[in-house]
Amino acid sequence: MNLVLLGPPGAGKGTQGDRLAARLAVPKFATGDILRDAVRDDTPLGRDAQRYMDAGELVPDEVVLSLVREALGAPQAAKGFILDGFPRTVPQAEGLDARLVELGVKLDAVVYFDVPEEELVKRLAGRRVCPSCGAVFNVHSDPPAVAGTCGDCGGQLEVREDDREETVRNRLRVYREHTEPLLQRYEKISSLRRLAAAGSVDDVYDKMIRVVGLG
Ligand code: AP5
Repeated sequence: MNLVLLGPPGAGKGTQGDRLAARLAVPKFATGDILRDAVRDDTPLGRDAQRYMDAGELVPDEVVLSLVREALGAPQAAKGFILDGFPRTVPQAEGLDARLVELGVKLDAVVYFDVPEEELVKRLAGRRVCPSCGAVFNVHSDPPAVAGTCGDCGGQLEVREDDREETVRNRLRVYREHTEPLLQRYEKISSLRRLAAAGSVDDVYDKMIRVVGLG
């Protein structure tokens, strides 16, 4: 199955994408994760991307497109893939279309995670991440057993740099301006599946399985 997970910051794309990838045994490509790894490893890509990410702005289309073009050509993607956080602009969606034609594959669905803004802000303010192993927690919905400590590896949990209040406001603005127009685009080509994603992680997972036709 070839899927796109679309939605605002904090909507649960990463959380649900990981579960779905495990269920389908396909890779999940999250452009945000790929870029954060590059920042952490201090690569030329990471050094370029960091100033956009820290400000809550989008990394230039051509940079992100080349990452995704490469990822989709990898052998692991041959039996299906999940794209999390990509595409985010019309040029990215057009670039994805062109890559899919090259590969001779189609999208089965674009899942839109619909969550009210006050819930997004609460989730982002409560997110804690482990810089050592990448595990994600939430002080409200999924707190670690020991406050501030990663339950997976024992690392010290941190607030993601772009989850600070002012940056979150900008990410939401950028989402509305650049990414929301994609909803209409995918609605027109009838691959959009709307998912009411404000419930618990388990409830949202059950709904998602149904909207993609697995349950
Ligand atoms: P990216 O990492 O993609 O950030 P985002 O889209 O803003 O998404 P988030 O990771 O904030 O949210 P999510 O929907 O994955 O929610 P999650 O499951 O983590 O991008 C970061 C930056 O990279 C961008 O700003 C940009 O600079 C750059 N970038 C990335 N892709 C790009 C692209 N295509 N083009 C250009 N630039 C790009 O959940 C959030 C929190 O809520 C967690 O704590 C989780 O535990 C909790 N939670 C999840 N589900 C629930 C639930 N149902 N109930 C309660 N809590 C929940």
